[in-house]
Amino acid sequence: MSHELLTALRESTHALHQELDHHPMMALLLQAELTAAAYANTLAWLHPLQSTLEQQLTHLLPTFATNIDLGPRLSALETDLQQLQVTPLQLPLELELKLAPSEGTLAGMLYVLNGARLGSAHIARRLQHTSPHLPCRYFTEANGAAHWPPTLKLLENLAISEYSDCKVAAETVFRWYIKVMNNAQRETVCQTASGC
Ligand code: HEM
Repeated sequence: MSHELLTALRESTHALHQELDHHPMMALLLQAELTAAAYANTLAWLHPLQSTLEQQLTHLLPTFATNIDLGPRLSALETDLQQLQVTPLQLPLELELKLAPSEGTLAGMLYVLNGARLGSAHIARRLQHTSPHLPCRYFTEANGAAHWPPTLKLLENLAISEYSDCKVAAETVFRWYIKVMNNAQRETVCQTASGC
């Protein structure tokens, strides 16, 4: 089995992942002095990202006849938000995710969505250590062990003609996360400062 595509995806998204996990909105999840308000704010911004990806994949999966189980995480995220008494956010039109539908696009989106489950396990362990009082079903129930192997298999079996769409989709989704988190950061600073 060839890991050529996986290697290419890792190379092309490594720096983007680093930018994202160092982003103030995400990095705070790993900090010892995490407040409930800051945690809830990040979760409220993760909601439209998770929701958009799950919605778009729900349409793409039957079209490309893959037997992948989406394993939605949105209800776990909503349960956490309800406990934190925070309403999920809506993305403005200019922050919508637009990708051409294809099997490669589907594979690239799943690489990011299911790869994030692996990072979630890491975040969950940290949260349980630093902030055991905070609800964290979204991270603890990510279940990467079940969803990562079928994602790797999908990538291994993807036709070479779809590789380009797959890489474009993975990079686009990472860039979209960063753009939304930059917007979130600006709005968060504005809420605490006057004159914005
Ligand atoms: C604070 C935030 C984050 C941290 C600390 C983090 C951490 C990690 C860690 C430790 C891994 C490797 C896990 C393993 O191999 O068992 C990983 C993998 C991955 N993460 Fe993240 N992550 C974060 C956010 C995200 C987000 C928001 C996304 C998606 C938009 C993402 C996408 C991925 C992907 C695609 C992989 C798999 C890479 C591969 O093996 O090819 N991560 N992350």
